[in-house]
Amino acid sequence: MGAQIIDGKSIAAEIRSDLKVRIDRLKEKGITPGLTVVLVGDDPASQTYVRSKQRTSGEIGINSNVIELPEDTAQSELIDLIEQLNQDDTVHGILVQLPLPRHFDTDAVIQAVSPSKDVDGFHPINVGNLWAGLADSFAPCTPVGIMELLRRTGVDPAGMNAVVIGRSNIVGKPMAGLLLKANATVTICHSRTKDLEAHVKNADILIVAIGQPRFVKDSWVKPGAVIIDVGMNRVDGKLCGDVDESVKKVASHITPVPGGVGPMTIAQLLVNTVIAAERTNFVD
Ligand SMILES: NC(=O)c1ccc[n+]([C@@H]2O[C@H](COP(=O)([O-])OP(=O)(O)OC[C@H]3O[C@@H](n4cnc5c(N)ncnc54)[C@H](OP(=O)(O)O)[C@@H]3O)[C@@H](O)[C@H]2O)c1
Repeated sequence: MGAQIIDGKSIAAEIRSDLKVRIDRLKEKGITPGLTVVLVGDDPASQTYVRSKQRTSGEIGINSNVIELPEDTAQSELIDLIEQLNQDDTVHGILVQLPLPRHFDTDAVIQAVSPSKDVDGFHPINVGNLWAGLADSFAPCTPVGIMELLRRTGVDPAGMNAVVIGRSNIVGKPMAGLLLKANATVTICHSRTKDLEAHVKNADILIVAIGQPRFVKDSWVKPGAVIIDVGMNRVDGKLCGDVDESVKKVASHITPVPGGVGPMTIAQLLVNTVIAAERTNFVD
């Protein structure tokens, strides 16, 4: 029969249209949600991501500003800029595009962003709040977007075996935290995991975020599992995920690449920016 395709593109469009109503409500009170993205250096992939974030924000009425700094910017200059943005009431969300050039201490830069404006959810206070199961803190956009995909597809993780392959701070770890918060039984796998296939075979929900093209094969997957493919790999000029096409025959639901998780990441960034604007202005 084949898996149901989870259409991230149209779910992201629904989220943006719901968000527009909240933005209009803020604007009636004289508040325009503001997102400032700081881009250091001239990495082409980062430039593309930043342009896409700016365009999508502008389309729904978020005031999006990109500050571009040269590659040789000093750490202290970047921290000073972030401190100014922390004090600026028109800026509700601050995002420093990663990766930063090698001479930066990325952890120190992340920690300079006020946790209340940390729409990326990378600040250690927000990371701690996520693992403590506290509400009202920002979590990273990709895993939050995935939770929303699951919710809108009618998949409740409670009681399910959820297996996350990948343990990055951006995807794997926060994904595991959110699934745990949603009462799944969570296993985190990584490059040192022994017998990965056996773990995958046990998964009712499988999240793959490793950056290895078409890595997970159909024979590993439990029939009826829900598969979320986070991978974005370029092979022969085309985008593909971390999960092989053949898995569609075995899974109950699967996200496509492109058009699955990717659009949700940007949509969630916009949601976080609007939440930041609502919170600072005491709008429910
Ligand atoms: N769609 C989106 O919006 C979006 C957002 C973010 C990322 N992505 C994509 O998602 C993928 C992962 O991103 P990331 O930032 O999390 O990557 P990352 O920081 O490179 O982390 C990759 C993780 O995968 C693990 N891994 C690598 N090879 C493995 C293997 N053969 N078996 C088991 N685990 C393995 C690594 O294990 P170790 O920790 O042991 O090294 C690491 O934890 C990339 O393709 C990226 O482009 C997509």
